[in-house]
Amino acid sequence: MVSGLVCALFAGISAASIAALAQAPVPDSPDIEAKARAMVAKLSLEQKIELIGGVDEMYTHAIPAIGLPRFKMSDASVGVRTWGPTTAYAGGVALAASWDPELARRIGEGLGKDARARNVNFLLGPGVNIARSPIAGRNFEYLSEDPFLNSTIVVPFIQGVQSQGVIATVKHYALNSQEYNRHNVDSDADERTMRELYLPAFEAAVKQGHVDAVMNSYNLINGVHATQNEFLNLKVLKGEWDFQGILMSDWDATYDSVGAANNGLDLEMPSPRFMNAAGLVGAVKDGTVKESTIDDKVVRLLRTALRYGFMDRPQFDPNDSTYSVADRAVALDGALESITLLKNEGGVLPLDAGKVKTIAVIGPNAWPAVPGGGGSSEAQAFEPVSTLTGIANVAGATVHVLYSRGLPEITDVLRHTHWDGAVTVATYPGKDFNGTPEMGKEQIFGEAGRAAVGHGVRYSASYKAEKAGKYLLLTAVEGWGTDLKVFADGKELPTAPHAEGQVAPFWTLDLKAGQTVKVQADYVPGWGARFGVGIAYAPELVMGEATELAKIADVVVVAVGFTPNTESEGSDRTFELPWGQDALIEAVAAANPHTIVTVTGGVGTDTRGWLDKVPVLLQVYYPGQEGGTAVADVLFGKHNPEGKLPVSFDRSWEESPSHDYYYPIAGADHVLHVNEPGHPAVDYVIPHVKYGDKLMVGYRYWTTTGKHPLFPFGFGLSYTKFSFTNLKAPATAASGATVPVSFDVTNTGSVAGAEVAQLYVSDPSAKAARPERELKGFEKVRLAPGETKHVTLNLDARAFSYWDEAAHKWTIDPGKFVIRLGDSSENTPLTADLTIQ
Ligand code: BGC
Repeated sequence: MVSGLVCALFAGISAASIAALAQAPVPDSPDIEAKARAMVAKLSLEQKIELIGGVDEMYTHAIPAIGLPRFKMSDASVGVRTWGPTTAYAGGVALAASWDPELARRIGEGLGKDARARNVNFLLGPGVNIARSPIAGRNFEYLSEDPFLNSTIVVPFIQGVQSQGVIATVKHYALNSQEYNRHNVDSDADERTMRELYLPAFEAAVKQGHVDAVMNSYNLINGVHATQNEFLNLKVLKGEWDFQGILMSDWDATYDSVGAANNGLDLEMPSPRFMNAAGLVGAVKDGTVKESTIDDKVVRLLRTALRYGFMDRPQFDPNDSTYSVADRAVALDGALESITLLKNEGGVLPLDAGKVKTIAVIGPNAWPAVPGGGGSSEAQAFEPVSTLTGIANVAGATVHVLYSRGLPEITDVLRHTHWDGAVTVATYPGKDFNGTPEMGKEQIFGEAGRAAVGHGVRYSASYKAEKAGKYLLLTAVEGWGTDLKVFADGKELPTAPHAEGQVAPFWTLDLKAGQTVKVQADYVPGWGARFGVGIAYAPELVMGEATELAKIADVVVVAVGFTPNTESEGSDRTFELPWGQDALIEAVAAANPHTIVTVTGGVGTDTRGWLDKVPVLLQVYYPGQEGGTAVADVLFGKHNPEGKLPVSFDRSWEESPSHDYYYPIAGADHVLHVNEPGHPAVDYVIPHVKYGDKLMVGYRYWTTTGKHPLFPFGFGLSYTKFSFTNLKAPATAASGATVPVSFDVTNTGSVAGAEVAQLYVSDPSAKAARPERELKGFEKVRLAPGETKHVTLNLDARAFSYWDEAAHKWTIDPGKFVIRLGDSSENTPLTADLTIQ
């Protein structure tokens, strides 16, 4: 019999896609299982143990005797990172802002192809942790604050990657929703909160996306590190969800040989510090770890490799070019679909290229382009298009484009700070600042400590204010493992929580004319570290040329936001924009009322200083390499904005529902004693963060309390208008039945556009307290002016269920439910009642 698939292949699918289909993994079968077991049978216990630890940072172990090569891994939150330039797509939170599962599939396919072109077997993504708090350093790499949106995006993304013969690795399992002290922090949450918020995207990745690798997070969960967490790894992932693939650790996230081996970890990355012969051979011999447990880990690796054909074909695919125009088009679509218009007063947008004569593009994020954030996800994009160049290209030769960075580079501030006398540098023998230091003197605050890894370096200097007013005390920090404390007149200045890497903090000092302030920095350099401190007089920080340009332009674009230095893995982020940027916006807005602000960044920031002074605000996220073109297309109306916020935007960090539950509970630390085979034991201090906000994350909090954030989840403006009509849902349904809900969406405006119809479910008669509404369906609809589309969404049992804490299972309480339909979590004009029997 000729199968339907074969017919389809010959009915016109190109040779390229035939190759891609042939390379997708085949399902597991008794034959594959038997082959994997036969290979394992040829291995000694030591060889098997070798296979469950990584080598050379990014590889699995090879055993040529059984024909097993090593397999390569690469990060890829925005682009494949392994070497050289690559296509950088709108990743993480930007992808979620598109609310487009098909885009997620195309980007997944693109990344899969880019991985094959670089011989990569495992793509270390996607990240699906919940964006619980606006200051969490990795929100930009993750998706959204909502488990349903995350699940809906992650499934096609994984399918896209894996269709190219590359294993996707969903990460970081689980509850890695902050970077502060990420190796040691204990994320304590109750089971219902985990099941309803933090686990569903992983569940969808496994059960619907059939992801073949999962990465454990660094943190502990309810007192136990993820890499040895029986509940998460054995009970839920491998038990209930029947995950048959490979569970790997995050890099250096393993803390116990037997604990990890017996609690589900299959592969310790990047090297076997714990799951090695010294830690496990004895344990297997004395029965603490069963040999069958080790066998199961090796079988998982071999079975997956056999299913992907890794032993039968080269992973390097020369047909998959590392650079392609088609990939650039996908990258552009990603940026276009995600950019979210949050404010557009007085019809400033879209700009008319025929009328605008002069446009000033100002700000540190105007040039160069900022395609992604920092850390292991940072990829080198091909020719990334900056906002400046994008605007110049799209505006065309008739529009005069002016440019100013608007603010000095930090290095200029450091170099031009005139300290009152020399900077004293005391280098202590250890990082505890005890003992007799070696003394030195420097001109620049921060230069000398570069080489002093592992030492305590204390800088002290005085600064004399010439004029009265506000001064910014600025720091520059680079490198991993750096620790920095800054004091002004002997008082330690507060920093955002950080550990490991560090986002450079800054402070405002109010000084009188002639006042001297003594500045001290206690600095413990880490690997590759650099640091500096400088002082700038705030009223003169904004470059005069910026306001001059703003005055003569018809319209100004101020491009501000974060960069890989200020928003990155390994540290949490400030809620405020980086230094000087608020002042820059205010100065430009005062000079020109037609000021458009574009913000690069994972999630919301503090806009209180200037939002009411500017008519337009555009959230750009990290848009990938084509971001500048997409911004310009949106500004000039070549593309109608369609992004919708995947996170609620708070006004202040203090009003974020996570604020009171973000920091460790004082006095609740405990000490964890860790024995690494062959090394002296180390004690780690484990701080406890209680997820006391429970289900009240993002819009669940805002809609339940009846309060309103600055911009609600799901919100985003368009240049056209849409209406929702004819909401139809059955009046009654049997418990567990799929419920069809249908409605019409009409473009009532005069330009084509896309709307995201969002369906929220409320359960007013539930026995347990539930969030006021939860997203349970959505559809992105593209409509010409005047066009209407009829949409049907099918709600499955999970759409009406909550996690019953006593019974430890999903449950539906019969009774009244309300279906709400609209264009954001706060604007749901249509409702329908439904009774579940
Ligand atoms: C990150 C992971 C990443 C790994 C390998 C770790 O620091 O947390 O997300 O996949 O490095 O680069």
